[in-house]
Formats: sequence, structure tokens, C-alpha cells
Amino acid sequence: MARKKIGMIGGGQIGGILALLAAQRELGDVVVLDIPEKENFVKGKALDIMEATPILRCDANLSGTSNYEDLKGAAINIISAGLPRKPGMTREDLLSTNVKIITAVAEQIKKHAPDSFNIVLTNPLDAMVYTFKKITGFPKERVVGMAGVLDTSRFRSFVAMELGVSVEDVSASVLGGHGPTMVPILRLSTVGGIPITEMMPKDKLDAIVDRTRKAGTEIVKLLENGSAFFSPAASAIAMAESYLKDKRRVFPCAALCEGEYGIDGYYIGVPVIIGSGGVEKILEIKLTDEEKAQLANSLEAVKKATADTGL
Ligand code: NAD
Ligand code: LAC
Repeated sequence: MARKKIGMIGGGQIGGILALLAAQRELGDVVVLDIPEKENFVKGKALDIMEATPILRCDANLSGTSNYEDLKGAAINIISAGLPRKPGMTREDLLSTNVKIITAVAEQIKKHAPDSFNIVLTNPLDAMVYTFKKITGFPKERVVGMAGVLDTSRFRSFVAMELGVSVEDVSASVLGGHGPTMVPILRLSTVGGIPITEMMPKDKLDAIVDRTRKAGTEIVKLLENGSAFFSPAASAIAMAESYLKDKRRVFPCAALCEGEYGIDGYYIGVPVIIGSGGVEKILEIKLTDEEKAQLANSLEAVKKATADTGL
């Protein structure tokens, strides 16, 4: 059986790590696509990674291009095309530029890879995945946004650091938009199955939640010229792998809600199952009144950014 084709749209910081991780995990052959001015740059990146594959001991072909025809037959595309944040910018500051970029990308993917599953990373995330869905008209199962996997990975890292336990044993749950209004569901977060609320005093937990909400900004400040890229790429690859291998993993992702959680017509972070059918199911959990209020607050921020797309 021929290997699956994986399109990485945007070959910047995230796109390069996506290509490396996809090759290393032997998920398929990788095509990194960027704008014509960056064609040689992405060809170089792809070749550089390919030349590492003998040492990494993985079989994958990698190529760079600016021609969407090279995406023909792609099983999956991971989209990180667009501007990242600089210090002092919010994710929303990126909206007007990135909506144009995502519109252009979506039109081309619709034409050249009409059967693909698509994971969007570009910020502001909830509004950009909404834009991609609107422009392609793809079924909602085949368009999803990456945010919650990263937000929970950050939370899990901070908890593991605080408690001195393996990150593997910390699990976490988050709902809502990708941004400061995200809603961590602490009563469903555990350490080796033990509720996290029993492992840590409230003030410590509150400090970790606060750091998680601001974790993207913390990295932007430290890097000084761009935003996080290793952890976002690793997060999207986990989602891609679940789709390609039909693992049916349960992740918090930006999915199109049509009635779930009382939300209709918006992309927002909710727990989903990702398998070979794409976003196969949104899992609805019963929320407390406080969680409902926090989710409603997060939805307002998502609604505003979504309206600003003009779509
Ligand atoms: P980057 O600037 O390093 O790379 C972006 C790439 O997109 C560039 O190479 C650029 O040339 C390319 N691009 C621009 N217009 C394009 C087009 N029309 N077609 C194809 N490619 C195009 O940025 P990055 O650090 O890789 O971040 C990419 C995006 O991901 C940003 O919007 C950033 O805010 C977002 N992000 C999201 C999350 C998340 O959790 N969802 C986390 C981190 C970053
Ligand atoms: C993050 C931003 C950039 O790192 O979305 O969370």
C-alpha cells in the first residue's frame, strides 16, 4: 500500500517541526507548502529533514513546494500558514491578515485535496478554523482546530513539575476558546486517577491554571520574535496520528458545535473522538453552574472573533 500523503500548509516554525515529527513517526510522505517566495526555503527544510531520516531510522519522503497540485490525493493537511504573534500582540491582532491567508489556503485545498481531513492551527484559532470550514464547505467531521491538546499539555507539564510526578500520569480537561477565557475542568483532571483537587492546595492549583491561560504569552515574551512551535506541532501530530491510525483518541479540540453544550454554529473547544472518520463524535459532559458560566463567557470571545471574520 502506498504511503499516505500529508500536507503541511505553512512551512514556518510550526510547519518544520510538523514535518520532522510526521516523518519520525512514519505517518506518511510529507509535502510542505508555502508561498512562492518561500518555495526554496521549504524545499531546503524538507531536504534537510529527509537527510536526517537514515539516522532517525524512519522511512518517509519529504518535499517542499508552492504548487497546490502537489497536494493531490492528500489524506490530511495540517494548516499553520499565517502570521504568529510578537510580544504585545493578542491572537486577535492577527485576525485580518490571517483570515485572508486561510481563505486562500481553503480555496486551494477544496480544489486540490477535496477528500482530506484538515487540522487548523493558525490564530486566532477558533475563528480561523471556522473560516476554513466556511470556505471549503467540507463536512464538519473533516475540519478541526488544534488548541485544547496544547492547553492541556501545558497544564499537565506544570502539574507534573509541581508534584514531581511523570507527565504521563497527569490528565487534564479543558473547554472553550483558545485564549485567556479557556475553561479548565479541574474536577475531571487527575494524577494517576486521583482527582487533582486532592493532590494540591487550591492556591497552587489556581496559580497553575493562571499560568496555563497565559502560557502562550509567556513563550512569546521569551522568544521575542514569534510564538511557541514545538508543543503546538506535537499536539497537532497527536491528532493526525489518531486520524491516520484510527486510534479514536479523546482530545479537547475546536469542533463545530451544532447544539452540543447549547452552542450552535461555532467552533469552540470541546472533547471529541478522532478516528478514521475524522471528528467522529463530540462528547457532552454535564457541567456545573460555574463551568457553564465560564463557558458562556468564553463563547462570547469566540463569537466576537468569529463575527470579525465577516463570514
Ligand atoms: P511562522 O511565521 O514561522 O510560519 C508561518 C508560515 O506561513 C510562513 O512560512 C509563511 O510564509 C506561511 N504563509 C503565509 N501565508 C501563506 C499562504 N497564503 N500559504 C501558505 N503559507 C503561507 O509562524 P508559526 O510560528 O509557524 O505559526 C503559525 C501560526 O500558528 C500562527 O498563526 C500562530 O499564531 C499559530 N499558532 C497556533 C497555536 C495553537 O495552539 N493553535 C499555537 C502556536 C501558534
Ligand atoms: C500559543 C499561541 C501562540 O502558543 O496560540 O498558545
